[in-house]
Amino acid sequence: MKVLITGAKGMLGSDLVEVFKEKNYEVFPCDIDDFDITDNMATRQYIKAKNPDLVLHPAAYTDVDGCETNEDFAYKVNALGTRNVAVACRELDIPMVHYSTDYIFDGTNSQGYKEFDQPGPLNAYGRSKLAGEKFIQQVLDKFYIVRISWLCGHKGKNFIKTILRLAREKKELTVVNDQTGSPTFTIDVAKATLQLVQRPTY
Ligand SMILES: NC(=O)c1ccc[n+]([C@@H]2O[C@H](COP(=O)([O-])OP(=O)(O)OC[C@H]3O[C@@H](n4cnc5c(N)ncnc54)[C@H](OP(=O)(O)O)[C@@H]3O)[C@@H](O)[C@H]2O)c1
Repeated sequence: MKVLITGAKGMLGSDLVEVFKEKNYEVFPCDIDDFDITDNMATRQYIKAKNPDLVLHPAAYTDVDGCETNEDFAYKVNALGTRNVAVACRELDIPMVHYSTDYIFDGTNSQGYKEFDQPGPLNAYGRSKLAGEKFIQQVLDKFYIVRISWLCGHKGKNFIKTILRLAREKKELTVVNDQTGSPTFTIDVAKATLQLVQRPTY
């Protein structure tokens, strides 16, 4: 089974590559230097040339503050870029796994969100990711949308690494105490993805 993974150098993407390789999938890891997902033609050409059986799509513009100052760019990558990947999957008639976020909700539910809760993003990142979800639902029949939160992995910046670094540098730490979330290890998301795609219940 051939699987193409976008954003393969990112925090989640790199663990997806490892977990799928371990299970003997033929993996095509790709990132922005292979093709830019905002380029419709390049995206479709690249994916179609590899002819995968499945696409995993963690690539995104994940800088939450950057999305706020450049919302057009956030939509370009997270909505239109995701649509370009979905169109390639439609043309190949293959399933796609898309990674979305708890930021599509308004954050007022302290009990945890369920699949049928109504989205209501409060920031540009959440709005752009929700637009990506909607494109996938319009373009594809065979898809999974995996809404994850607060990723921690070996690659990239994350809360645990930041606290460890600050703990080495400072005597006393000041940390926000008005944020609630479920930290999620990228390796767990990768393993759960493996289970998900083995059951074609889109
Ligand atoms: N991090 C979190 O806490 C979190 C929480 C919930 C959901 N998510 C979602 O989970 C997924 C993975 O997150 P992550 O933190 O692992 O992301 P990440 O580390 O920022 O990795 C994203 C990857 O996508 C690549 N990319 C960005 N723009 C691209 C483009 N136009 N074309 C092709 N590739 C592009 C990036 O390359 P460059 O580095 O060169 O830009 C990077 O390698 C994302 O969809 C994100 O929205 C993340």
